[in-house]
Order: sequence, then structure tokens, then C-alpha cells
Amino acid sequence: MMRRPIAATSATIDCPRRTAPRYADLAHREPAFLSVEGVVKHYRLPSLTGAKVVKSVDGMSLHVRAGEVMGLVGESGCGKSTFARIVTRLTTATHGKVLIDGEDWLAPTGEALRRRRRDVQLVFQDPYAALDPRMTIGTSMSAPMAHHGIGGGATERRARVLEMLEDVGLDASFYHRLPKQCSGGQLQRVVIGRALLLEPKLLICDEPTSALDASMRTQILNLLMDLKLRRGLTMVVISHDLRVMRYLCDRIAVMYLGKLIELADRDTLFNSPTHPYTKALLAASLLDQNSLSAADSLLEGDPPSPLNPPSGCSFHTRCPHARPDCAAFEPELKLARPGQFVRCRYWEALAEEPIAGRETTESSGVHAQSTQPAATAF
Ligand SMILES: Nc1ncnc2c1ncn2[C@@H]1O[C@H](COP(=O)(O)OP(=O)(O)OP(=O)(O)O)[C@@H](O)[C@H]1O
Ligand code: SF4
Ligand SMILES: [Mg+2]
Repeated sequence: MMRRPIAATSATIDCPRRTAPRYADLAHREPAFLSVEGVVKHYRLPSLTGAKVVKSVDGMSLHVRAGEVMGLVGESGCGKSTFARIVTRLTTATHGKVLIDGEDWLAPTGEALRRRRRDVQLVFQDPYAALDPRMTIGTSMSAPMAHHGIGGGATERRARVLEMLEDVGLDASFYHRLPKQCSGGQLQRVVIGRALLLEPKLLICDEPTSALDASMRTQILNLLMDLKLRRGLTMVVISHDLRVMRYLCDRIAVMYLGKLIELADRDTLFNSPTHPYTKALLAASLLDQNSLSAADSLLEGDPPSPLNPPSGCSFHTRCPHARPDCAAFEPELKLARPGQFVRCRYWEALAEEPIAGRETTESSGVHAQSTQPAATAF
């Protein structure tokens, strides 16, 4: 049965107090709900000089606990969406394992896969692309239920859709509307509601707010926060916006060129980042730009291509602290502090390095010590 209700969303942000436990010290002790182990996705591209390989995801391991919201951040092209597509079985992995609730998630095929697809739902960045422009919202929301045999007959499905529309803050009139008669934020709520109607065990949101304006973004974030606090839904949230990460996520995984380079609980990551790339991201957020393009401007050189990733530490071409052996040896992801993992051979030596912009902003009182985002931050 559906668990109800999700609170109605509002245009003004109402920062709910966090009730979820802190996870920093439990990193290896709690069983994971989603376990991704050594996942690789290489695309082979034909070229005049022989086939080239895009190393889109290049050995990702990540464990997400039940009820946890895991943030995934990294610059454009680092493999976030590919990771999401592997976990939702929209693309196959070249290598690696994905377990959901202890069961092999990559093994089912055919009818077995069809039956289990509803367990893992993906919400894309662009809700317009996710909906058929010729179908009413009601039909778009009830069709997947019918496909998965949920909700009995048409009458019951209609009742559930109407209930879900209300849950996501939309009134019954939306049932008969076409996508073109809705705003982007309303459509994103429709898409999230449609995913929830399938009662997924895991919801993956790939840039769920980046196509929306500020007030719509706030509404969607409130909705996702409700799902987290009231339903305890396990989620992976992909975003370029560090404010979204701070607001929603329990832990945050930072990706660079298809690999995980840092993983920590939210407060640790924002207060004590260890990897030079994470520090650059944080410096960008302290400059109040909150975007990865701002981080790029703090780093030298262009992002390398996944067609030809650098040797050794893949960040060495842009790392302000690179040493000669960084180009030769690939660092492993290692435990730095309780619950914090980093892929840098020299993180200890760099621990005292200040984060660009932190002294200035802190001494001017611009950036509060607390990592709880301000109510108007979005
Ligand atoms: N079907 C494909 N064939 C070849 N290369 C692909 C394919 N899909 C993705 N890639 C490449 O894999 C890399 C990772 O792509 P992906 O879409 O996962 O990045 P991303 O981190 O989601 O980026 P963004 O933040 O821009 O959405 C990119 O270099 C991309 O060009
Ligand atoms: S291993 Fe070397 S290049 Fe890589 S992040 Fe650490 S210091 Fe920089
Ligand atoms: Mg993407």
C-alpha cells in the first residue's frame, strides 16, 4: 500500500529539522541498500584512426544505506548520468556489480527485469522530455501503473493518481491537462509523482531542479525533502548545485573522470574537505557561485577528456598540489577520517591548506559555520 501523506509543497522554503541519523561513523558497519562495486562503463567509438574508448565510468564503488540520501556531484562529463543509467538498468555496465537489498540487480532479464524495474525509478532533469506531449497528465501517470499491474482497475488507478497529484501539491484539474498546459515545476512534480506511484525502493534524481527557475526549484526541493523525512525514501540525488547537496543529502560523493574521489557525510565534506578538487568546489561555493563552472575557474587547465584520461592520478593535470609521482601512480580511495574517504596520496600533507576564499568570507561573516542552508538559499 502507498504510504501517505507527503506534505503539500509551498513556494517559500520551510527548512525542516533533520531527523535522519548522522552516518559518519557507520560507513562500513551498516548493510547497504544499494551496493555498487567496481562498476565500469566504457563506450567504444568508431574513428578513422581505430576505435576509441570513452571511459565514462571507470571503477565506481558506492554504498547507499536504506533511507539515506546520497548526493553525487562532479563536473559535466564525469559520468554521473551514466552511473544513474546503469543503476536504473537503462544501460548495461561493462564490468562490475550492483546489488539492491543484497540481490544482484544486474542479473534479471526479460520478464523478471520488467517486474522489478519499478523498484528503481529515475527522475530526469527535463520533465518535458520525460512526458508524451500528446498524453494527458492522468494518462501519463496511470499508464506505468497499469504496465506493472499496480492499482487494480482503471477506477482505482485514477483515484490513486488524483491522490498522488494532491500529494505532490497539484490539484485534480491537472489530471486532464496536457504537458504544454503546465509549468516546468508542475511537470517535474508530475514526473516525481509518477515515479512514486510505482512505490520504488530507490529514487534517483538526475539534476531534478537545474531546468527550473528559483521558486520552482524551491518547491521541488521541499517535495524531495518531504520524501526523505516522511517516507524515508532511499535516494541518489545528482546535482551541480552545492546548495542542493547541502540541503538534501546525508552523504556526498564527489566524482572526477568516472571515479569517486571523495566521499563523506555532508557536514564533514563542507567543513573539512580533503581532496584538492573538493576544496575547489567548496571554494566556489564560498564565492557564492555554487556551481561547478566556478570551480573550474579556480583550477588550471581544461577538464581532461574521458577518451584519454591522464595517467596516474587523473586530477594531476589540474591539481595545484601535484607532485612528480602523481602522474605515475594512481591513488586508491582510502579512509581519511571516520566516514571520510579520499583518493589522494598527499591528503594528509595538504590537510592544513586553506580553502581559497574561506578566510575572507568567514571573517566578513558572509559564510556561517553551520552547514544548514539558509531558508532563501535557493
Ligand atoms: N552513449 C554514449 N556513447 C559514447 N559516449 C557517451 C555516451 N553516453 C555518455 N558518453 C560520454 O560519457 C561521459 C560521461 O557522460 P555523462 O552523461 O555520464 O556525464 P555527466 O557527468 O552526467 O555530465 P553532465 O553533468 O553534463 O550531465 C561523457 O564524456 C559522454 O560524452
Ligand atoms: S594525488 Fe597528487 S595530483 Fe592527485 S589530488 Fe593528490 S596531490 Fe593532487
Ligand atoms: Mg548528466
